Amino acid sequence: MADAQFDPAAVTDEVAEGIEKIRNASTLEELKALKAQFAGAESAMGQASRAIGSLPPEAKKGAGQLMGKLKADFGRAYGLKENVLQAQAEQSKLAAEQVDMTLPIERRPLGARHPLAKLMEDVEDFFVSMGWQISSGPEVESEWYNFDALNLSPDHPARQMQDTFYVKGNQTKDAAGFVGSNLVMRTQTSTDQVRGLINRGVPLYIASPGRVFRTDELDATHTPVFHQCEAIAVDKGLTMADLKGVLDKLAVAMFGEGARTRLRPSYFPFTEPSAEMDLWFPDKKGGPGWIEWGGCGMVNPNVLRAADIDPEIYSGFAFGVGMERTLLLRHDINDMHDLVEGDVRFSDQFVMGE
Ligand code: DAH
Repeated sequence: MADAQFDPAAVTDEVAEGIEKIRNASTLEELKALKAQFAGAESAMGQASRAIGSLPPEAKKGAGQLMGKLKADFGRAYGLKENVLQAQAEQSKLAAEQVDMTLPIERRPLGARHPLAKLMEDVEDFFVSMGWQISSGPEVESEWYNFDALNLSPDHPARQMQDTFYVKGNQTKDAAGFVGSNLVMRTQTSTDQVRGLINRGVPLYIASPGRVFRTDELDATHTPVFHQCEAIAVDKGLTMADLKGVLDKLAVAMFGEGARTRLRPSYFPFTEPSAEMDLWFPDKKGGPGWIEWGGCGMVNPNVLRAADIDPEIYSGFAFGVGMERTLLLRHDINDMHDLVEGDVRFSDQFVMGE
């Protein structure tokens, strides 16, 4: 690089020009470019600094002092502007990233609990509030618990009342003649009666809500899988009046004040006497009226005997209600399909203050 002349006036002017431009710069990029232009190797300041070396000794001091002042002035102007522009850049970055907490957010659609699940819980709460226990037996059950223990012999015509899914074997006894080795999908939650008696003993107060299975076709009021709640109480001195009292209380818990039940003589193998139970439903569509709701009766002595309980000492009552039926009545739903399709728009209608 050719040796430059040291020209104090020219370098002072150029530095003044540079400082002026720095003061007017509006971005950090612009500022950096000005630094390269006015303080870089090719700038007047750069060239003058190099030229000092070839000045006569007596001129060096004054030239050095001038250059020191110019560099300091330039550096100060640069530093001040850099601070200002950096603060501005930060501000606008923060402004761009600002989140408006008052804007409505995009919500994901919520699911809704199935009304049947809620009903099952309501029923459990009812029994727990009376001090009863909640029990749940297996859904794949031995024929013995499902039928035999409930006083249905293998050739009992009542077995045809409930079309059964057989899981293993078919009506064959094992070597010991014990039919319990055949497995079925339980056709009723009454299955839990003798399990409860054997596992928990007496006095016994249990409710068994759960799924049951029958080979029904799916139509407006039937599905092959549905839910029941069985209740059985066995103690000393229980009578049909106790049964009626619990049924009326359950009716009110499920259907509100004014609901009550009535019994009509009927037949079930596991109860004697047995009754069909009707519900007086004040909010029935088309006006209050009686609707068939479940089955009930006093526990048949043979059922107690199956669990080695002495029917001379203990007596009991039992009843069973269909949960889907209860739900259809309670909410005036006409079609079982709505219950099994799992459409959240259906369930959503029943979301209540839980
Ligand atoms: N298990 C019966 C059914 O599925 C309902 C029932 C009737 C249960 C009478 C009972 C009873 O406990 O005593 O249809």
